[in-house]
Amino acid sequence: MRVLITGGAGFIGSNFIRYLINNRPDWQITNFDNLTYAGNLANLDDLRDNDNYRFIKGDISNIDDVRAVLESGFDNVVNFAAESHVDRSLYDPGIFIKTNVLGTQLLLDLAQKTGISKFLQVSTDEVYGSQNVREYADEKSPLLPNSPYAASKASADLVCRSYFKSFDMPVIITRSCNNYGPFQFPEKVIPFFMTRALKDEILPLYGDGLNSRDWIYVEDNCEALLRVLESGDPGQIYNIGSNNELTNLDLTQIILKLLGKPSSLIKFVEDRPAHDRRYGLNFDKIENKLGWLPKIRFIDGIQKTIDWYLANKQWWENIISGEYRKFYEQHYRNLR
Ligand code: NAD
Ligand code: DAU
Repeated sequence: MRVLITGGAGFIGSNFIRYLINNRPDWQITNFDNLTYAGNLANLDDLRDNDNYRFIKGDISNIDDVRAVLESGFDNVVNFAAESHVDRSLYDPGIFIKTNVLGTQLLLDLAQKTGISKFLQVSTDEVYGSQNVREYADEKSPLLPNSPYAASKASADLVCRSYFKSFDMPVIITRSCNNYGPFQFPEKVIPFFMTRALKDEILPLYGDGLNSRDWIYVEDNCEALLRVLESGDPGQIYNIGSNNELTNLDLTQIILKLLGKPSSLIKFVEDRPAHDRRYGLNFDKIENKLGWLPKIRFIDGIQKTIDWYLANKQWWENIISGEYRKFYEQHYRNLR
């Protein structure tokens, strides 16, 4: 099996590649990534000499790059490549449309021409917008994105649907809840708060801290993605949830407790514009149709994650001292 993974130098993509190397050792994996601020080849250092893995630098929104990589021929494409941070999409929506919408369309278009067996689009629960308490979006719920990031992912989902309907292309979409685990870029709340708390720096909690998210350990998501890739039906959408719903305040208190740091590090700050109050996913379909359920309890996953960040300080120190600073300094002006 020859698989093209786009965005494989990012958080979930790199975890997925490692998951494939361990669980499908005969698959040939090509990682195609243009190494934005969020792409990091250090995430895959251990695989550099693996004969079944190769890296190609390229941009999913550049026709020459995409044409060149697809020339070698693939059975499957898994599209992780994206601008993925909601806060950044509020500063610079254009790059989200370019990469997430136009890039996905270009990839679909050229992959269709070369012929593939499956195209898996890695999407998000954010496309459904905010859910009321005890409401759960299923795959037929309306798309009501509230941030430019969410709108770009919802748009890409619709383009994927149209390629299935119009051209019979074997596209499948997954929509997962919030991932956490090793190699997550430290701008996302869990690694952001962990790495700051370790330095006794303030943790800026948006609004009243009562927005909630459902948290999935990244390895559980990788297992679900592989299940969908191998057994999912073209044209279908599969939600991937975890039943680990937490308010941001509770999440922060858990992180502080496990790190042995005081609650006084929490600072309530101005809310994120259009901040989705809650994501709630109904993921009965992937359980009923494909027999997948998450395995990792939040308390175990978060402990593993903390252990990883403690053991890999150099990895995140390199990031937070680099390019990342520019965004941080603009966005968190109120913490200076
Ligand atoms: P990430 O930001 O860590 O990684 C994104 C990767 O895409 C990076 O390696 C980056 O270099 C690459 N990339 C960006 N633009 C590119 C381009 N034009 N061409 C080629 N590569 C490009 O993101 P992540 O958290 O790993 O998310 C991966 C995917 O999963 C995204 O599509 C995201 O929307 C989706 N998703 C993420 C979560 C989550 O909780 N992190 C949840 C649901 C869905
Ligand atoms: O739900 C899936 C989505 O989860 C993915 O599609 C996105 O790619 C991913 O970034 C994530 O989006 P969120 O906006 O939910 O994640 P983030 O880590 O940015 O924020 C999680 C919650 O924490 C959210 O309610 C905002 C809050 N937050 C975040 C940061 C960075 C804070 O209160 N303070 C912060 O400094």
